[in-house]
Amino acid sequence: MTTATDAHATRRSTTGVGESRGSVVIEGVTKRYGDQVAVDDLSLVIEPGEFISFLGPSGCGKTTTLRMIAGFEHPDAGDIVISGQSVLSAPPYRRDVNTVFQAYALFPHMSVAENVAYGLQQRRTPKSEVRERVSQALDMVQMRSFADRKPTQLSGGQQQRIALARALVNRPAVLLLDEPLGALDRQLREEMQLELKLLQSRLGITFVFVTHDQGEALSMSDRIAIMRAGRIEQLADADTVYARPASAYVAAFVGQQNFFTGDVAEGGAAVASTHAHVRGTDARLSGVAQGEAAVRPENMRIDASTGSATGSGSATGDAVNTARGELIGISHLGDTMQYLVRLGDDQSLIVRRPTPDAPALRVGDAVVCSWSASSVLLFPRDDSAEAGGYIAPPTA
Ligand SMILES: Nc1ncnc2c1ncn2[C@@H]1O[C@H](COP(=O)(O)OP(=O)(O)O)[C@@H](O)[C@H]1O
Ligand SMILES: [Mg+2]
Repeated sequence: MTTATDAHATRRSTTGVGESRGSVVIEGVTKRYGDQVAVDDLSLVIEPGEFISFLGPSGCGKTTTLRMIAGFEHPDAGDIVISGQSVLSAPPYRRDVNTVFQAYALFPHMSVAENVAYGLQQRRTPKSEVRERVSQALDMVQMRSFADRKPTQLSGGQQQRIALARALVNRPAVLLLDEPLGALDRQLREEMQLELKLLQSRLGITFVFVTHDQGEALSMSDRIAIMRAGRIEQLADADTVYARPASAYVAAFVGQQNFFTGDVAEGGAAVASTHAHVRGTDARLSGVAQGEAAVRPENMRIDASTGSATGSGSATGDAVNTARGELIGISHLGDTMQYLVRLGDDQSLIVRRPTPDAPALRVGDAVVCSWSASSVLLFPRDDSAEAGGYIAPPTA
């Protein structure tokens, strides 16, 4: 039995959300390995029934955070409260959570049903209840008709569904998923993303999903926590994270960006880089010497260069929000065309246009790229390895 009057639960009674079944509260949690800080004073309230993703590059602390919620790792500082109760002294099997890992080791000698039943049997659940819960769990992932097969007779996607059923059979309030689709090919991964999201909204279970794949996080999550070096850099819904990234790091990690780096100009409203004078709509960079301006590939136009300057002109007489270069690559992405434009030895731009109104251009053409001030994001310069000047590789 859970004790609702537990000291930790009552301490949090003013916050409301942290008490209900399926909520997860992370309070000032730190985890060190030797002198390396894997998770750094992290705080977060996850609401019951929420689909939240931890997104970030390899090594930023996603798995460590998940393992602390699950109980496989113990924080050096801070508290973790699940469904209103501090769980720090509870072993993994006493927590109201289950984990699905990328490596979904199913027992090869057991049938699908036996794999799903295994955990319940270990806990001496009565036979009739095991049978009922296994069928329910297999129904949830639409795999009931596969109950008697062996794992080797299943595709990768089907095996991953069984791994999900094996976690769901325990009826956890919170499901923790660590890159569960990482082993699947792209098409199957996209199908499973849709399925997972549907399953989550149908069951109303809290999903805490770890991924380094921004597309995966954007497509499924109610909120995304973008992590950097053990901390959360931005926590918001997909639209916000995409349209209003809090930093150059987030901008570089979510979707693609073209970055221009240089001196801040016009009282903080522009960045003067080698290849373009990039102006935004407000003076976001006042008081900062160096800045980065970011423009998404889909917010850029590309046209054949007529030879004369076409920009609207800045105080210094240079063209504004315009860059000239040579078209060095064209890729057909189906509904969009992607252009790679070389501005100089040190910089290229990616431009994407919808295929129906793509301009007729050829590799080797002199081109001019242009964009509106409203599509410009301005950030203080960030030269850390993860962000400064980074252009995400084109996705096919
Ligand atoms: N068991 C461990 N021992 C030592 N260092 C670890 C261990 N687990 C993780 N780390 C380190 O902690 C940091 C965060 O790792 P992790 O949480 O696995 O990142 P992610 O899942 O985001 O890739 C990394 O620098 C990693 O090398
Ligand atoms: Mg990991």
